[in-house]
Amino acid sequence: MNLLITGGAGFIGGNFTHYMVNKYPDYNIIVLDKLTYAGNLETLEPVMNNIKFIKSDIADRDAVYRLFEEEKPDIVVNFAAESHVDRSIDDPEIFLITNMLGTQVLMDACRKYGIKRYHQVSTDEVYGDLPLDRPDLFFTEETPIHTSSPYSASKASADLLVQAYHRTYNLPVTISRCSNNYGPYHFPEKLIPLMIANALNDKPLPVYGKGENVRDWLYVEDHCKAIDLIIHKGREGEVYNIGGHNEKTNIYIVKKILELLNKPESLITYVTDRKGHDLRYAIDPTKIHNELGWEPETKFDDGIVKTVEWYLANKSWWEKIISGEYMEYYKKMYINRGSI
Ligand code: NAD
Ligand code: DAU
Repeated sequence: MNLLITGGAGFIGGNFTHYMVNKYPDYNIIVLDKLTYAGNLETLEPVMNNIKFIKSDIADRDAVYRLFEEEKPDIVVNFAAESHVDRSIDDPEIFLITNMLGTQVLMDACRKYGIKRYHQVSTDEVYGDLPLDRPDLFFTEETPIHTSSPYSASKASADLLVQAYHRTYNLPVTISRCSNNYGPYHFPEKLIPLMIANALNDKPLPVYGKGENVRDWLYVEDHCKAIDLIIHKGREGEVYNIGGHNEKTNIYIVKKILELLNKPESLITYVTDRKGHDLRYAIDPTKIHNELGWEPETKFDDGIVKTVEWYLANKSWWEKIISGEYMEYYKKMYINRGSI
């Protein structure tokens, strides 16, 4: 089996590559990644001898067609994306180029060269948000698309295109829409790794608004297991929601991290809110549970301890990141919010 993983040098794609290398030693695994600010070859270091890595852009048609001609992938799993909501608010264009047009180029290659399955890694953010005072409401696969940020709009556009390629050209596709992931190799611009890094450096922890927004956290390995099931057993043309009924407010998460690191809550700084900030995400995973038998295995209390331990044991991975161009990003993003 030739498996092409795009965006495999990023957080979830990297974890998925590790998972698939270990689970399917006979698969021929090819990783395509542009190595943007979020891509990191050190994430792939432990499996580099078991994969073929190609530095390329999913929106570069010639390069993608060349890769398909040479590698003949049977299964394509597309993680490659611009993934950070705050960056999309600051500068949306690259989000449309990579997330929408890049997806189109990949699917055109799949049509031209033939594949067994194209899987689009999407997000629960395509459903917009839920009110904080209605804990009875959840996103199902039938919830209408209703996006808030340029990031989620670009991901939703890609999803619609994937469904159009299935209906129009019979491309064998699946889509998964997962809630917030956490775990090893998470880029320190996102809530959990940013708070761990700042706490360890005794820097202020910038909480947007009142910290009451809710996210539905899933340990990244559980997401990888769900995608593995979908690409092998999921039904063509179907959307599968992935999430583990693990809703937490942001302030709960931040306080938990401080507690685990034995750092004072006085580090918490409430800062200007994100524009258009989604209130609550909450996934109903009934379909993937009933059809494919998936359920999350790592409980949040265990997953967050494992994650904090990973960041303590792998300081060189993230310290290199935050000492480089990341500092420019950090100043730009947080100086106007009132925290630096
Ligand atoms: P990430 O930002 O950590 O990694 C993205 C990877 O894609 C990087 O390695 C980057 O170099 C690569 N990339 C970016 N543009 C590219 C391009 N044009 N061509 C090739 N490679 C390119 O992102 P992540 O958090 O690992 O998210 C992976 C996917 O999962 C995304 O599609 C995201 O929308 C989706 N998702 C993320 C979460 C989450 O909580 N992080 C939850 C649900 C879905
Ligand atoms: O739900 C899935 C999505 O989860 C993915 O599609 C995105 O790619 C991924 O980035 C993530 O989006 P969020 O916007 O939910 O994640 P982020 O870590 O940026 O923020 C989580 C929450 O924490 C959100 O309510 C904003 C808040 N926050 C974030 C940062 C970076 C803060 O309060 N302070 C911060 O400094």
